[in-house]
Amino acid sequence: MCSKGQLWAETQRANRVEALRTLITKELGETDTITLEIGCGHGHWLTAYGAEYSKEKCVGIDLLNDRLKKSEAKRLKRGLTNIHFMKAEASEFLDAIAPHVRLAKIFILYPDPWPKARQSKKRFIQAENLTRLANIALPGCTLCFRTDHEDYHLWATEKLLEHPDWKVLPGAQWPFEAATFFQNLLRDKRDCLAVRS
Ligand SMILES: C[S@@+](CC[C@H](N)C(=O)[O-])C[C@H]1O[C@@H](n2cnc3c(N)ncnc32)[C@H](O)[C@@H]1O
Repeated sequence: MCSKGQLWAETQRANRVEALRTLITKELGETDTITLEIGCGHGHWLTAYGAEYSKEKCVGIDLLNDRLKKSEAKRLKRGLTNIHFMKAEASEFLDAIAPHVRLAKIFILYPDPWPKARQSKKRFIQAENLTRLANIALPGCTLCFRTDHEDYHLWATEKLLEHPDWKVLPGAQWPFEAATFFQNLLRDKRDCLAVRS
């Protein structure tokens, strides 16, 4: 049985997903394949990537307006038309994507580590989000995860190893190097790459 509070929260989420669906359709039109960066922050990495891979349609999502503004300024400065920055919570974005849109590559760089044990449920890498990603990933889609945080690296690797739709690629090379804002701050990097099996 749902409490009133739960029902309200679910209704609010459904409304946000619906609004995002409209925004995604407006931004992406007929596009059917995207490269997605979750938590794109200040946009350093995706603008560098999108400039190099100009034939790929790239989408960067983040929760924070000020970071998205900086991302958009970088995009405009470089005149890149293949990148779209959108304000979206990641699970809501994945639920809002139109059925014809598929993910070709997924990047998650320096996600919030939520270091305390009681916070771990807030980490993005959870079985249910890996299922959301797998459901709209093309076969062969790569998921590239990078963090400085040892425990989150272990956690993400374990969740990917446990998940039936993702195959971890030990020792796989990071496909495109460009420092992010947080990489510059934190220096350390630990990667985990997986492929949609
Ligand atoms: C530590 S920052 C890293 C930003 C960037 N990737 C970098 O390396 O500089 C994590 C980013 O993820 C965003 N974020 C956190 N949870 C998110 C979620 N559920 N959906 C979308 N973005 C999220 C935050 O707003 C923040 O900008």
